[in-house]
Amino acid sequence: METTQAVLTAESLRYRYGETVALDGVDLRVDPGECVALLGPNGAGKSTLVMLAVGLLAPQQGTVRILGGDPRRAKTRRHLGVAQQTLGFPSTLTVSELVGGAAVRGGLRAAAAGPVLAELGLTELARRRASKLSGGQKQRVQLAMALVTDPALLVLDEPTVGLDTQARRHFWQILAQRRAQGTAVLVTTHLIEESGTVADRVVVLDRGRILADAPPQELVSRLPDRTVTVRTALDPDGLERLPGVLRVGRERDLVTIQTRSPEQLLRLLLEQDPELSELRVQDVGLAEAVVALTDHREPSENPREGRAA
Ligand SMILES: Nc1ncnc2c1ncn2[C@@H]1O[C@H](COP(=O)(O)OP(=O)(O)O)[C@@H](O)[C@H]1O
Ligand SMILES: [Mg+2]
Repeated sequence: METTQAVLTAESLRYRYGETVALDGVDLRVDPGECVALLGPNGAGKSTLVMLAVGLLAPQQGTVRILGGDPRRAKTRRHLGVAQQTLGFPSTLTVSELVGGAAVRGGLRAAAAGPVLAELGLTELARRRASKLSGGQKQRVQLAMALVTDPALLVLDEPTVGLDTQARRHFWQILAQRRAQGTAVLVTTHLIEESGTVADRVVVLDRGRILADAPPQELVSRLPDRTVTVRTALDPDGLERLPGVLRVGRERDLVTIQTRSPEQLLRLLLEQDPELSELRVQDVGLAEAVVALTDHREPSENPREGRAA
């Protein structure tokens, strides 16, 4: 059977900075049109993986390929669009000059900027200088610069930091249109819940290794953990000591209990407070699922440890 060519493939990728192991054998594949979110705590190796993928670092062991080519080569890098949060641009240039410049560097004519500016709603700002742009507008300009060459893979490092909800929705809408045309997206973010709503797959990286690579909903459902919400007169401190209880919180006048063993908890709750009402049981969020995977406490104090293996 003919399989589509992967946009990105990483095999047994290893990278260390001196004594520090940043990537410890990473395998990853991203297909056309796919959106893969790279999650994990600080220092997990996300940025290192991204830098290897875009050719800013060379693998010390293993391989990384973009459409079968080496991202260290300029010819291969043309397939990449990169928007990095920390990247600033020359403040004296206008929006149109910035995006036009990116087009020219990608081997296109500066006029290629026109349609992308329209796509991102930047046409009216075309003649504005970068120094006069708001944070959200700058982010859109960066995206325009990354998209102007019609890349096969868009690599985004924390793209929605500092955006309000509406700007964020707009941002993902634009990406959805591009993805429908086959553009793949690799995105790092600390906004785990957000990534769960936009990514086809979530890759959880920790200490240089991939702990999970699955659709977000699957990661959540792998966890037995549930959030139980209830109106009860029971004392929260007492609830915290019940077996399997991970966390007790308040939501207005309701109590929320995160638990590893929901059935057991429900039995105990109903037994101890026959008056309880407004009972609700929900999945925990993706954020909790990821934290459960990357929780580093010792097994003795952390009964979840086995799950991370
Ligand atoms: N330039 C560097 N020199 C030395 N150590 C580094 C450097 N960059 C990253 N590291 C280390 O490599 C590990 C992975 O870092 P990084 O890829 O930046 O992770 P993340 O982006 O997930 O926070 C961390 O332990 C970090 O401290
Ligand atoms: Mg980083």
